[in-house]
Amino acid sequence: MRQAKVLLDRNFTIGRVDPRLFGAFVEHLGRGVYGGIYEPGHPTADEKGFRRDVLDLVNELGVTIVRYPGGNFVSTYDWEDGVGPVEKRPKRLNYAWRTTEPNTFGTNEFIDFCRLAGVQPMLVVNLGTRGPGDAANLVEYCNHPGGTRTSELRREHGWSEPHGVKFWRLGNEMDSDWQTAANSAEEYGRLALRAAKIMRWTDDTIELGVSGSSGLNRSTYGYWDATVLDHAFDYVDSISLHAYLNNWKDDTPAFLASADLVDAFLEGVIAVADAAAAKRRSSKRIMLSLDEWSVWYRTRRPFEYRVARGWSAAPSILEEVYSVEDALAVGGLLISLLNHADRVRCACLAQLVNVIAPIMTETGGPAWRQTTFYPIAQTSRFGRGDALHAKVDCGIYAASYYDPYSAEDAFYPLPHTPYLKLSAVANEAGGLSLFALNRDMEQEMTVSVNARGFGRLALAEATVLTDGDLKAANTKTAPFRVKPARLSGVAAGPETVRMELPPASWSVLSLKTVP
Ligand code: AHR
Repeated sequence: MRQAKVLLDRNFTIGRVDPRLFGAFVEHLGRGVYGGIYEPGHPTADEKGFRRDVLDLVNELGVTIVRYPGGNFVSTYDWEDGVGPVEKRPKRLNYAWRTTEPNTFGTNEFIDFCRLAGVQPMLVVNLGTRGPGDAANLVEYCNHPGGTRTSELRREHGWSEPHGVKFWRLGNEMDSDWQTAANSAEEYGRLALRAAKIMRWTDDTIELGVSGSSGLNRSTYGYWDATVLDHAFDYVDSISLHAYLNNWKDDTPAFLASADLVDAFLEGVIAVADAAAAKRRSSKRIMLSLDEWSVWYRTRRPFEYRVARGWSAAPSILEEVYSVEDALAVGGLLISLLNHADRVRCACLAQLVNVIAPIMTETGGPAWRQTTFYPIAQTSRFGRGDALHAKVDCGIYAASYYDPYSAEDAFYPLPHTPYLKLSAVANEAGGLSLFALNRDMEQEMTVSVNARGFGRLALAEATVLTDGDLKAANTKTAPFRVKPARLSGVAAGPETVRMELPPASWSVLSLKTVP
């Protein structure tokens, strides 16, 4: 049995957890939109075509903000194709995923979806084949009350009130060669500045994010982020990052350690952003937005897995089936987010439905929860409040994480990986939430928590996600094969919690303070 100690204090806060940490992403990709959130004719669909079974699961997942419409798709998307009378909308090639885009779902339908789901919309503008003027037109179409050509168009299309979209992103993965308009950092920095200015002049209440590195593994990481911020610093609020974890090498300890690389990534970009501020003698702080994150590898490589031949509409691509160990890795990454709550203000799980997603559907059939659904839903439910500094004393292990998306195929050494990855949140109910990933594959771990300033603690709820078979998954025929179970062996008292974590497990504890 491994022993671990945790020390935390109610007053030693990292920062307030922004609810937007629990965001997700919907792209015109595979069955993400069509057959995912939108399926007219489905037995559960409402009069507008939204699947109510999916909406219920989105609600249970605790999603707060949804990024749309891409992803790679956005870099060739003409937003005008997706508005106006449906029968007049053109079918177009979706170049990114080699499918046919019917455009029966566009910006206005997305806004309707967000309202139904009770989430904030986040729109990404096309800075690939389009430019700043087109981006500003979309802001005007969405947010200007009326009386101008573009805002009147929205009203003619049936949405008389402005959509009031507050969160916007300046292109997608502009540092990457797979993007239609891959730019140099200088080119993109200048383009982003021009777009940001005119978008802000159109609506000065919006919040803007500039495209940062689309992975810690990009050869331009660091230089890219510094350069685009040198250009756009004064006109943006945040920098967007992407992070996907993999277990290509079937090395589970290294896979679970890889979430720590996300901590390093976030800290690297914070340093770069603060250096940009220092250069300007500015007290402004650029926030981070992890606009795409998840586990993605089985359907990522080779390229043929990612695209459908024949330009079909809404094919089943990137439908990754997630296992228990994927859910543990997702839990680890959620802990990374909570532990950077002071600077990470938004994060969008990629994606929401069917496409590398926690929610799966059968077209015409049922919807179900993947394994990864659970840590996300639990963190959104119990992780609201003040993230706390927590000092962890436990053993360490050495891992070597393989990432073939590096500039050269590479292994990242992780020589000092703590077996326990943990986050603590002083939750909104006045109690304490603990999120714990035991990365020891063999041994159970006894964790003694000294929770100063919390008074007498009592257990409200404790669950664990693990399985003798870490490759186990949920499927249409066995939708509840994997789900959290009650965690036994928890003892709480005055400023103390003691818990026993099974090997290779993700646990969530909710504790209340009692007289
Ligand atoms: O989420 C899938 C794809 O991953 C997105 O379209 C792109 O932005 C990223 O490379």
